[in-house]
Amino acid sequence: MGNPLFSTKSVDKLRSDAEYSYGLKRSLSAFDLILLGIGGIIGTGIFVLTGRAAAANAGPAVALSFTVAAIASAFAGLCYAEMASMIPIAGSAYTYAYATMGELIAWIIGWDLILEYLVGAATVSVGWSGYVCAFVKNVTGHDLSATWTRAPFVWNEATQHMQATGAIVNLPAMFIVLAVTTILVVGIKESARFNGIIVLVKVAVVLMFIVAAAPFVRHENWVPFIPDNAGTFGRFGISGILQGATMVFFAYIGFDAVSTAAQETKNPQRDLPIGILGSLIICTVLYIAVSLILTGVVHYTKLSVPHPIALGIAATGMRSLEVAVEIGAIAGLSSVMLVLLLGQPRIFFSMARDGLLPPVAAKVHRRFGTPHVTTIVTGSLCAVAGGVLPIDILGELTSIGTLFAFMLVSLGVMILRLRRPDIPRSFKVPGGPYVVPIFGVLTSGLLMYTATTNTIIRLFAWMAVGLVIYFTYGVKHSVLRTGREPPVPFADPHTETPPPRLVD
Ligand code: ALA
Repeated sequence: MGNPLFSTKSVDKLRSDAEYSYGLKRSLSAFDLILLGIGGIIGTGIFVLTGRAAAANAGPAVALSFTVAAIASAFAGLCYAEMASMIPIAGSAYTYAYATMGELIAWIIGWDLILEYLVGAATVSVGWSGYVCAFVKNVTGHDLSATWTRAPFVWNEATQHMQATGAIVNLPAMFIVLAVTTILVVGIKESARFNGIIVLVKVAVVLMFIVAAAPFVRHENWVPFIPDNAGTFGRFGISGILQGATMVFFAYIGFDAVSTAAQETKNPQRDLPIGILGSLIICTVLYIAVSLILTGVVHYTKLSVPHPIALGIAATGMRSLEVAVEIGAIAGLSSVMLVLLLGQPRIFFSMARDGLLPPVAAKVHRRFGTPHVTTIVTGSLCAVAGGVLPIDILGELTSIGTLFAFMLVSLGVMILRLRRPDIPRSFKVPGGPYVVPIFGVLTSGLLMYTATTNTIIRLFAWMAVGLVIYFTYGVKHSVLRTGREPPVPFADPHTETPPPRLVD
C-alpha cells in the first residue's frame, strides 16, 4: 500500500455499494433525468449572458462561442456519462476521483464542486432577483428598493478591492434559495415534478422566442458575422469568440448535476448517460438557435442589457410576449437553482459516508427520503452567499470551479480505462481511452486559462481552506484509512439488507 493520501476506493466495492440507495428513493426515469438536466442548464447563461458576450466579445459570432463552449462541455459530458454508467453513486465527480486518483484528489474535487453547485446556485439567485425586479417594474411601474435587492458589496476592478454599495442585503435572492431548499427537503420526486413543470415553461418560452422572432431577422445584422478584432484580445475576431465562449460556458453548467441523482434513479447505468447527453444536446441546439436569432433581430452593439431575450422579443413589436419571456426566465432560473441545490447535498452526503465530513451530514430523512441535513446546510450557506456577494465574483468562481472538475473527471476516465479495462461500462466514450479525455482536459484547460488572475487566486484560496479542513478532520476520520464503518444514514424500518462495507 502506498501513501494513504492516494489510496483509492475499490471500484468493485463502489459498484456494489451503488446497489443500495441508503434510504434515498429510487424513483427517477431517463425522461426525468433529461428534464433535470435541462432544468439545470437553461438559465442565466442564455437569458442574461448571451447579450453581454455578443456586445462585448463576439458579435453575431456569439453562436460560434456557444458552439465552442458546447464542444468543451460535450467532451466533459461524454466522460461524465462513462463514469456515471460505471459508478452510479450520488457523489458524482468526487466519487469518480476517489476511485481513480485517491482520497486527497477526491477531497479536492469534492471541495471544488461546492463552487460549481453551491456558489453556482447563489449566482443564479442573484440573476433571479434581477429578473424579478425588472418584472415588478414592468408590471407595476415601481422599482423595488435597491437597499434590499442588491448585494452590500461589489468588486471594484480599478481599485482591486471590495466596495460598499450602500445596500443591505439581496432579499429576493435569499428568499428564492430558501424556497427551493424547502422543496428539496420534501422529496426527490416532488422536486423532479416541480422541475418538470418549470422546464416545460422555460423551453416553451425559448421556443416561442425562436418562432416569434425568426421572421424579424434582418440579414444585415449578421454582417459581418465575425466583427474585426478591435485591437485587444477578446474584443471581437477569433479571440472574441473564445472569450465569449468562456463567458457563455456558464450556460452549459448543470448537466453534470444529473449524475448526482444516481442513487435515486431506477436504472442508473442506462439512464444516466441518456440524461446527461440528452439534455446537453437539446440545450446546445436551443442555444445556437436563440443566439443566431437574437443577433439577427437586434444589432449586437445594442445587446449589453440585463434582459437581452426580452429585448429581442420587444424588437418584434410583440410587447405582450415580453412579460411572458420574463416569467419564463424567472421560472427557468428557479429550476437551475433547484438542480444545483439538489446536487450539492448529495456530494456532501457521499463525503460524509466516507468519513471526510461529520456523520450528521450522512443523515437521510426517514419520511422524505432526502439528505435533509446537507440540503438545509447547503441552502442556508447559499442564501447567505446570494444575499451578500456580487454576481460577477460568484459567476466567475462557479465557472472556474466547474472547469477544474471537468478536467479531473476527464483524467479519471483515462486512468480507469487503463487500470481497469475489465469493468463493465454501459456507456463508453468513443475513440478509445485517450482522444475524448485528452480533448476534455485541453478544452476545459483552455477556458480556465482565460479566467482573470483574481478568479484564479480565489480558486487557490478556496482550495487552501479545503486542505486545512481535510488535514485537520478528514485524515483522522476517513473510513478508508481508519477501517471504521461508514455512518448509518437513517434508521429506516424498510431498509434492505445492510449495505456491504466499503473497506476490507
Ligand atoms: N447553466 C446554468 C445557467 O445558465 C447554470 O444558469
